Amino acid sequence: MFNMNGETVSYDLENNALVIIDQTKLPNERIRLSLKTKEEIVSAIKELKLRGAPCIGVSTAIALAVLANDSKAETEEGFTEEFLSNCDCLIASRPTAVNLSWAANEMKNVLFSCKGKSLDAIKKALQDKALAIHSDDISRCKRIGEYGAELLKDANAILTHCNAGRLACVKYGTALAPVYIANENGHRIKVFADETRPLLQGARLTASELIDAGIDTTVICDNTASFVMKNKMVDAVLVGADRIALNGDTANKIGTSAVAVLADYYNIPFYVCAPFSTFDKNTLTGEEIEIEMRNESEISEMWYEKRMTPENAHSINPAFDVTDNMLITAFITEKGVIKPSDIKNCL
Ligand code: MRU
Repeated sequence: MFNMNGETVSYDLENNALVIIDQTKLPNERIRLSLKTKEEIVSAIKELKLRGAPCIGVSTAIALAVLANDSKAETEEGFTEEFLSNCDCLIASRPTAVNLSWAANEMKNVLFSCKGKSLDAIKKALQDKALAIHSDDISRCKRIGEYGAELLKDANAILTHCNAGRLACVKYGTALAPVYIANENGHRIKVFADETRPLLQGARLTASELIDAGIDTTVICDNTASFVMKNKMVDAVLVGADRIALNGDTANKIGTSAVAVLADYYNIPFYVCAPFSTFDKNTLTGEEIEIEMRNESEISEMWYEKRMTPENAHSINPAFDVTDNMLITAFITEKGVIKPSDIKNCL
């Protein structure tokens, strides 16, 4: 059984494949999948076998390189058409996380800069870019961890929502990076993980990777967050993000905005940890962010032996919500700690 301290997603150059950990099987089974076709990759994203904004971004870059390498197109025109159609297909697989279109755009720029070169040279340039995006994610997350660890130097415990750890990135994670870096420096910070209904990313994923890393971990029901804050059991809240608008409004896993409202009420700092690939300069405010709606059965049936709600009861299942910028103490990024009002100057 492999330990989750390694890389969540990687590029298997020898077999031209995107290698991921199947996150739907955690914590009970640890399975790596080797994905080669567009269909396999798109369904892995839709079914959340791979998930978390930076992880989806890096996977998109690798997927585009894998598919480009496999292309049977013989002309630059045919190759470009196929490449752009692969981009559209991947971008459409999940609408909220901006890292997906960010990565696709980075790859498109490489393609456009190679105009007139041989197809082999273009494929090699795309492969190099995918590898660069992959290793860049590790260093961005590490820097987020270093800035965050400094901010938390007197903290004893934090609360987090969903999974914004190494399973949501390549390594380290965003919201959990400060905990890992502090731990490496001998400062042990406890983590309270919201279980994160309905898909239990906190209970299944955050708890698994923290336990693998030897971090003191307590899983709480989402509705226990107020109890934990009121009783001064946490010093700060750290969450990740799927898309950050220019004014600082932030889309993240459903329930994040409720946690932010509670943190504000109890006067606990609320930090959003994210690389700049999650900031979207084309989105002015949170109102413009498209929220992915998922199947009702994730609420009424999944995880239960028998359906848990009456047949005719409706459910709504938005995968994300938007936290108002005024509830966010600061963003912890790879370039430092910034206030919502400073975003415009940093992009
Ligand atoms: O639906 P998911 O599991 O992909 O949602 C993930 C989140 O909301 C994370 O908090 C976010 O992507 C940040 S990951 C560093």
